[in-house]
Amino acid sequence: MSKRQMIIGMHLGNGYGSQPGAWRMPGTDPRSYASFDAKVRQAQAAERGKLQFLFLPDGPSQMVDIEEEAPNFNLDVMLTLAAVARETSRIGLIATGSTTFNEPYNLARQFKALDVMSHGRAGWNAVTSSGEDVAANYGQRIPPSAHRYGRAHEMIQLVQALWGSWGREAWLHNHNTGQFAKADQIAPINMGGKYVASRGPLYIPPSEQGQPVIVHAGGSPNAHDLAGPYASAAIGASFTIEDARAQRAAFREAAERAGRDPDEIKYFPGLMTTIARDRRSALDRRIAMTERLFPQRVAYLQRMLGIRLDPDRLDAPLSDKQLNAAHPSPRDPRSAQALKIAREGWSLRDVLAHGVIDYHPVIAGPAIEAADHMQEWFKAGAADGFWISPDIYEDGIDAFVDGVIPVLQERGLFHHDYEGITLRDHLGAPTQYGLDPRISG
Ligand SMILES: Cc1cc2nc3c(=O)[nH]c(=O)nc-3n(C[C@H](O)[C@H](O)[C@H](O)COP(=O)(O)O)c2cc1C
Repeated sequence: MSKRQMIIGMHLGNGYGSQPGAWRMPGTDPRSYASFDAKVRQAQAAERGKLQFLFLPDGPSQMVDIEEEAPNFNLDVMLTLAAVARETSRIGLIATGSTTFNEPYNLARQFKALDVMSHGRAGWNAVTSSGEDVAANYGQRIPPSAHRYGRAHEMIQLVQALWGSWGREAWLHNHNTGQFAKADQIAPINMGGKYVASRGPLYIPPSEQGQPVIVHAGGSPNAHDLAGPYASAAIGASFTIEDARAQRAAFREAAERAGRDPDEIKYFPGLMTTIARDRRSALDRRIAMTERLFPQRVAYLQRMLGIRLDPDRLDAPLSDKQLNAAHPSPRDPRSAQALKIAREGWSLRDVLAHGVIDYHPVIAGPAIEAADHMQEWFKAGAADGFWISPDIYEDGIDAFVDGVIPVLQERGLFHHDYEGITLRDHLGAPTQYGLDPRISG
């Protein structure tokens, strides 16, 4: 029986890294936001580590203080992946595409073309959009939840039907007979629902993996219900091992409810990394990047711990009186970890530098700490793998690949090389072409 091993993906965002201020760090070219060469270099670094996929979130809106910060996302996720596809050969390419503000035909065409271009490495992170700033860019408002998720289900089914509308064996391209394709195997789908419709067919032949893999990023009950019938991977955000275990179980149960084998859906919580020689160097690196934001983060940390904190006393640890009065806020799942770090006696500045207010658990320290975290969660059934968000891409991906990956490999937790060529191979996702007959009935 083969041993279960982790699947690891790498976040590929704005060209700089997942920490605010990454764009100004030494060694980072401040023009990387607009540099497809930088994205290609970063993707190649992840592929050198044999990582199974890249994950490009997207939500087309500026959403940051542009005066001082870079936008969070790629210029265009599909164009970035097209560039990356040409300069890599194995790593999977997953991008977000909104089910709220796209038509099925557009998305079906772009993702399947990427799948063909990359020889079967594309994945579509099908999410509903939830930000009014994004909606405004499409001249719309965010529709109610039932509408967004109703449309999302229809979108995925239509897109998959379009992907399957060019028959697997339809393309003959026979020079001698002059028959290009079997017209009777390339058929319209004539599908329509309450929200979207398409006639088809989509004029794109199958890729090496047939069609792109469906992924869903989220964690709400809506997310479980949307991912359950279709997704091969769920990309999540869990701050505790208990939450990750519950999320993984919820996605697996949703897949089972839809008539699928729960092993067909993998759960990947996020992990943010600052890999350095020791804790002190990692904290200093994070302070150099993000200290500008500490005054506002002190204000937030006060609410997480339920005590008053003084932003002018960043050098001092929390007093005994403060620590005794502190109680983690039940409204923020990061609060217990924040209090744990504060109780270790770190200065307020260092508590914040530990990333206690980041989007995912943070490892700031030597590579072995990241490997230990990943092993613990993986062994506890809290994850099938992880998606990694390095603080600075330029050297943070290399630090992960050269530091963490060998430890995981030595422990038998991560593969030494790609076993297959497609994203479906990397995820252990079953063959599918067109709609899944178990779902479409
Ligand atoms: C880890 C993670 C990654 C996400 N990535 C994206 C993204 O790239 N683009 C996007 O529009 N929404 C993204 N989302 C948001 C979700 O898809 C969803 O819209 C949001 O969690 C609201 O869910 P709800 O509508 O069920 O409340 C992400 C969510 C999580 C947890």
